[in-house]
Amino acid sequence: MPSVYIKTYGCQMNERDSEAVAAQLLAKGYSLAASEHVADVVLLNTCSVRDNAEQKAINKMENIAGDIRKNRPGVVLGFLGCMAQSRGKELIDRLPDVDLVIGTQKFHRTAEYLDEILKGKRDKIVDTAEEQGSEGTIREHLLNGNATKSVTAFVSIMQGCNQYCTFCIVPYTRGEERSRSIEDIVAECRQLVGQGVKEITLLGQIVTSYGRRGDVWTAAASEARRRFSTDNAADTKAPSPLRSAGALQKTPFVQLIEAVHEIEGLERIRFTSPHPKGYGDDLVEAYGRLPKLVEHGHLPVQSGSDRVLKLMHRGYTRARFLEIIGKLRAVRPGIGITSDIIVGFPGETEEDFKQTLSLVDEVEFDNAYLFKYSPRKDTPAAAMLDQLPEELIEERHARLLDRVNEIGRRKYEAFIGRQVQILVEGPSKKNEARVMGHTRCNKIVLFDGSERHRGQIMDVRVTRTGSFTLYGDPAIVNL
Ligand code: 5AD
Repeated sequence: MPSVYIKTYGCQMNERDSEAVAAQLLAKGYSLAASEHVADVVLLNTCSVRDNAEQKAINKMENIAGDIRKNRPGVVLGFLGCMAQSRGKELIDRLPDVDLVIGTQKFHRTAEYLDEILKGKRDKIVDTAEEQGSEGTIREHLLNGNATKSVTAFVSIMQGCNQYCTFCIVPYTRGEERSRSIEDIVAECRQLVGQGVKEITLLGQIVTSYGRRGDVWTAAASEARRRFSTDNAADTKAPSPLRSAGALQKTPFVQLIEAVHEIEGLERIRFTSPHPKGYGDDLVEAYGRLPKLVEHGHLPVQSGSDRVLKLMHRGYTRARFLEIIGKLRAVRPGIGITSDIIVGFPGETEEDFKQTLSLVDEVEFDNAYLFKYSPRKDTPAAAMLDQLPEELIEERHARLLDRVNEIGRRKYEAFIGRQVQILVEGPSKKNEARVMGHTRCNKIVLFDGSERHRGQIMDVRVTRTGSFTLYGDPAIVNL
């Protein structure tokens, strides 16, 4: 059977999709190749969120086509995922060596399409169609294929996005929001926990919108209507259980977390990525009530200026964002808060940018990922007239990065001498003598350890810090 090499660009959702494709191919008898140089099939799972992510994947494929195809003409080359979805056949027109282009709703067809190409039944395949039910197809894991067992796992709970932020390509590459059922997700989580998984990260483009469309929300809403039939007048668009008084005051997302929380043997629940507007009081309250829900929130703020937030179509103000952070810190004082920020959105003035700097000072994020604005195909912001010059974006990015790093350094140094609880995930990638785990507040901790620590929840005393990394003292590990 052929061997396959899958390279992934972009977010954790893409990582998870690649894992599901790899598991699917292993089940069909493929083996996983260590590099593109020895593989019979090379698949690049792509990202479209910024232009440089697309360029990286295109350059990589050009190199592979140039190098590898020359010596081994039978190698099958394919693009998967977001860029495959948004560019489709255009990718083959541009890179004629590419045989296969599979969009974001068709990952589960990879084995079938490869089979057709390898058997010579079809020459080129492009499939970027929508598929009903595709949100339920990312479910296979690699846990059993690995010699060593994973103690953390990612579970896809939904696909797509309906937020339409003006800068963002995701609604066009991932499609409309579609959610899996709570029962389906819980069954997958249960199975993972049965295989030794201790921490689960619930994944989706906007997890806080889980179940707001389709069956999950509708079921909750009709139950709410049945009980409190007079209360829905305010919302004409979607029936909202939240607006109904009484028992059903929880969003489907919080209901899902509660259901996963009940799984015995599961120690930690994370989720990514949420939308700040999804942090209603029910979710804040869940942090205070559900001990397996870790003290970490990734809240992408994008900008500190109300004017820019509005142009971005974010659906919250600076004041509302700060209010949410305040509430989260009130229920979980040590909570780690991270964020995403875009620098240089069209029309961003020095005054707007200063608002972002001051928000960063005010919140003191544990870390924030900074992105230079990149115009994306078909998005409203790409057509805005006042695009900023690259040098200005560079300059603002550098100023903001200094601020974020300085605050991060202070926050990490404050951990020195403290005891933190970590879940040991396995050896550090850079140094085999060290093991790596995350604190509940999502900070990486390294200490001198071995395979026997894997999967253990342990208390480690922090002795020193590196860049967004904590180091623990192995001497105190077993106290
Ligand atoms: N340009 C720059 N950054 C972007 N992001 C999304 N779209 C763009 C864009 N067009 C960033 C946002 C988002 C993160 C995943 O990527 O900050 O939260």
